[in-house]
Amino acid sequence: MTTTTINGRVESLPDDPDALLIDIVRDQLKLTGTKLVCGAGVCGACTVLVDARRSQAA
Ligand code: FES
Repeated sequence: MTTTTINGRVESLPDDPDALLIDIVRDQLKLTGTKLVCGAGVCGACTVLVDARRSQAA
């Protein structure tokens, strides 16, 4: 397990190199405002901030 701070809360994340961030964010952390829409980096629905920089979670 890896721990990180998300929205001010310390969370444990799986050490699975194949896990998609979108799946962890939505399914494990229940942060369902992040969506998988195009899956191609076009729409921005999966955008998250990582260390204050935009990143696509899918
Ligand atoms: S799902 Fe559209 S940019 Fe990520």
